[in-house]
Amino acid sequence: MSFPFPIQAESTAGSNFQKDIRPLLETYCTKCHSPSRKKGGVDLSRFLDSGAVHTDPKTWETTLAQVRDRNMPPENKPQPSAEERDRLVTWIEGALDTMDDAKLPKDPGRYVLHRLSRLEYNNTIRDLFGVNTRPADKFPPDAGGGGGFDNNAATLFIPPVLMERYLAAASDILNEAKPEAIFVTQVAKGISERAAARKIFEHHAPRVYRRPVTKDEVDRLIALFKSAQKRGESYEESVKLGLKSMLVSPHFLFRVEESQTVKAASKSRVTPAKSPAGSPAIHPVGDFELASRLSYFLWSSMPDTELFEQAAANKLHEPAVLEAQVTRMLLDPKSRAFAENFVGQWLRVRELKTVTQPDNKKFPEFSLALRDAMYDETVEFFHGLLKENRSLLEVIDADYTYVNERLAKHYGLEGVTGKNFQRVSLTDRQRGGVLGMASVLTVTSYPLRTSPVLRGRWVLEEILGTPPPPPPPLVKSLPPDDKPRDGLTFRQRLEQHRTQADCAGCHKRMDPLGFGLENFDAIGRFRTKVADEMVDASGEMTTGEKFKGAAELKKLLLTRTDDFTRNVTEKMLAYALGRGLEYYDTPVVKQISKSVQRDGFRSGTLVAEIVKSLPFQYRRTGTVDEKGETARDGAKKTTQASLK
Ligand code: HEC
Ligand code: HEC
Repeated sequence: MSFPFPIQAESTAGSNFQKDIRPLLETYCTKCHSPSRKKGGVDLSRFLDSGAVHTDPKTWETTLAQVRDRNMPPENKPQPSAEERDRLVTWIEGALDTMDDAKLPKDPGRYVLHRLSRLEYNNTIRDLFGVNTRPADKFPPDAGGGGGFDNNAATLFIPPVLMERYLAAASDILNEAKPEAIFVTQVAKGISERAAARKIFEHHAPRVYRRPVTKDEVDRLIALFKSAQKRGESYEESVKLGLKSMLVSPHFLFRVEESQTVKAASKSRVTPAKSPAGSPAIHPVGDFELASRLSYFLWSSMPDTELFEQAAANKLHEPAVLEAQVTRMLLDPKSRAFAENFVGQWLRVRELKTVTQPDNKKFPEFSLALRDAMYDETVEFFHGLLKENRSLLEVIDADYTYVNERLAKHYGLEGVTGKNFQRVSLTDRQRGGVLGMASVLTVTSYPLRTSPVLRGRWVLEEILGTPPPPPPPLVKSLPPDDKPRDGLTFRQRLEQHRTQADCAGCHKRMDPLGFGLENFDAIGRFRTKVADEMVDASGEMTTGEKFKGAAELKKLLLTRTDDFTRNVTEKMLAYALGRGLEYYDTPVVKQISKSVQRDGFRSGTLVAEIVKSLPFQYRRTGTVDEKGETARDGAKKTTQASLK
């Protein structure tokens, strides 16, 4: 590995910014994008020189998309000539492309203490004591936020009510576990109660804390044990008290990353990085920390014996070992937790079980069994993709899917019986890929009808990663159902809305994508008619490309593999790190996306590249780059000395 990266010379892409680019922005854009007008939250007048792109790559990525797709300037305003538009696009692309060679700090991100989410808690308890009662289901729900995933560390703190639940759960867990799982050493001739207790603590503590423990830590557990015995508690109860204290310890409840502990315990490779002036002090994480990062990423649970062994041998960080572990972990059934958790949130199909509620008069077939089958199809599909290292493009279009009898009936597929899911080939090119899945089609619909707007927004946001800005307040709403009114079909009414210039900017991007999916009703059944009229599933992109129906829409989306790959990379990286992405993650995202594209879009490549990336392997503890974090989130500038 070549971390830390050297800071390289200034990019050449911006050499003609002053002469060729800034005048274009001033002519066509800054009237609406200045500090005083700031439409869509964007100020383009603040970029004064060639370094512009590097200070805020996110804004420039959106700008690129807006200009390239002819959304900006708005259509009733003076337009740049074809040459001017092209010049702007080429310049932004060039500048974004050479950015990793430029001024961005090489920064793995600040480490945020990470509390186990409910799911992680349940799985960890299962792997520790074989207890399958999901005790964390009684905890208050995790907030979710920032990066959009509920394992986002910034949202995982401990409110008092949660502490009470932790205490109660710890008692329950120890009562439910099989005694053999707890009392791994028996009191016997030559083994006193105290000696047996010590052996028991020495066995459990490293697994509960997910790292080697010091003698001091075991002594403290023994002290607890002794004081309980002195109070007259039985031997068993006294041992359990020690274990209970482990289960409410921050070392269990949080994924603590402390280089010092690991260093002492495992002759770790952690050495302070030489940090070039102005760049943050970054450190590789220790092998035990890496084991936890891996296991919580791919299993939503604690490391297993093999990971612990590789960490203890100080080998886990070696690229070949890591790659082998990733392959092994994806093949382990525990990786279903990753598939479910990641895809459930990324594609929002989790909402099927929480918010989405099709009208039960209009859609009496929407039973719990059907709902669960819809959800499971998406999870099975993504899990299959991971286990078999298939192309991520199959998310957009595939010639197979997973169904059980109930779902097969919903899709009009024959010959599938029973509750279990099986893989089936699809001859109908409308289905296949997530856009033809009932789960996705249902969560993007209203109770009584489909919404091409919501579906289009979903495609922009979850597939292409180019979301529209939030809607303006007080927009006239459409009726709750799709009955024709005033001689207009539902689609015609929606199109009427879009004719106003104020609305077109956003709706011309969203609605056509949703029109392409109109052959699927609000619970994802195929239809040729809507409210007695023939379905019109044709659409036209802002670029002028036309399509009709889901099959053609998917073909078109497959020409946007750059956007799609960058988007999946961003989503999965945020999930893997348990934090929202920052501007300094851009080069890493780009580098991973490139590797994935080069390697036939293999899902395994994406996972492996994430695991080998700077932010996954390193953390920042020291000085913050001047221009970077300090400017972005007002984080206090810490001095190097304060670290020691
Ligand atoms: C007449 C005013 C006007 C002009 C001129 C204009 N914009 Fe916009 N821009 C807007 C408005 C309004 C929005 C908010 C979204 C919408 O309504 O479409 C916006 C949004 C944006 C966004 C954010 C979009 C998003 O998805 O978050 C970007 C980037 C942008 N404009 C870039 C440009 C560029 C580049 C130019 C010049 C080539 C330009 N705009 C010219 C009015 C303008
Ligand atoms: C800045 C982008 C933006 C602009 C400008 C905008 N919208 Fe929207 N609109 C959205 C988004 C995003 C949604 C989806 C809302 C959601 O997710 O709940 C939406 C939803 C709607 C819906 C609901 C669709 C349905 O299926 O019920 C209607 C109707 C609508 N907009 C009409 C308009 C009209 C009319 C205008 C112009 C006056 C307008 N919008 C301007 C972004 C925009």
